[in-house]
Amino acid sequence: MPPNAALADIGTDHAYLPAWLLGRGLVRRAIAADINKGPLDRARLTAQQYNCTEQMDFRLCNGLAGIAPDEVDTIVIAGMGGETIAAILQAAPWVQDGRYALILQPMSVQSDLRGWLWHNGFSIQKEEIIREGDKLYNILVASYGDAVQLTAGEEWAGRQLRDMVQPLRAEYLARLLEKVDRAIAGISRGRSGLQDPRLEHLRQVQRELTAMKKEWDAWQQ
Ligand SMILES: C[S@@+](CC[C@H](N)C(=O)[O-])C[C@H]1O[C@@H](n2cnc3c(N)ncnc32)[C@H](O)[C@@H]1O
Repeated sequence: MPPNAALADIGTDHAYLPAWLLGRGLVRRAIAADINKGPLDRARLTAQQYNCTEQMDFRLCNGLAGIAPDEVDTIVIAGMGGETIAAILQAAPWVQDGRYALILQPMSVQSDLRGWLWHNGFSIQKEEIIREGDKLYNILVASYGDAVQLTAGEEWAGRQLRDMVQPLRAEYLARLLEKVDRAIAGISRGRSGLQDPRLEHLRQVQRELTAMKKEWDAWQQ
């Protein structure tokens, strides 16, 4: 979280994140936004419970539609599919400005979100992989400008740099490889079988992920 941030938490649900950040003085203001009334009512209750109603605003809106560009400098969109996060950013062209930090936590199709980001001029400064229970979650920190073209494998797994600290990366790459193997096997058994046009792309992803895993394992020696 950038210091002293003015935060919008899109799809806030219980507003646990803004309440936690405000409670620790890690943001100066927060807008808790949700498309549904039930979650926003829960957000208000959380703010009362944690005594941060004064520093929190509540918006019933689709994505960033209810947020004005000068109200915030940091935008969290967490706990939604990668394609939904991309659609929310697409509908708010004002985020194409380097002054906003985007903190994104896609639950699925991370490749779609990474692909959308670089195609639309955003760079990913940092990725964290965290574990809860059996699941691994990715958190992407991105902003507009300095976009780097990603390969098919990098859209799946993010860019890999030698000095990067990602203790769960080996496991993450292994899980992605299992996923792409399953996808290839499933499509190969399907009606169009080996003629399916998706296969070539997935095989490219498989080759790249295999090479990335090998490279990463060698770096950890
Ligand atoms: C699974 S919850 C995630 C809650 C929280 N952000 C988290 O990561 O734990 C998803 C929330 O996003 C809201 N949501 C879904 N689509 C949305 C949209 N287009 N705009 C705003 N909120 C949305 C849902 O109503 C729900 O409260």
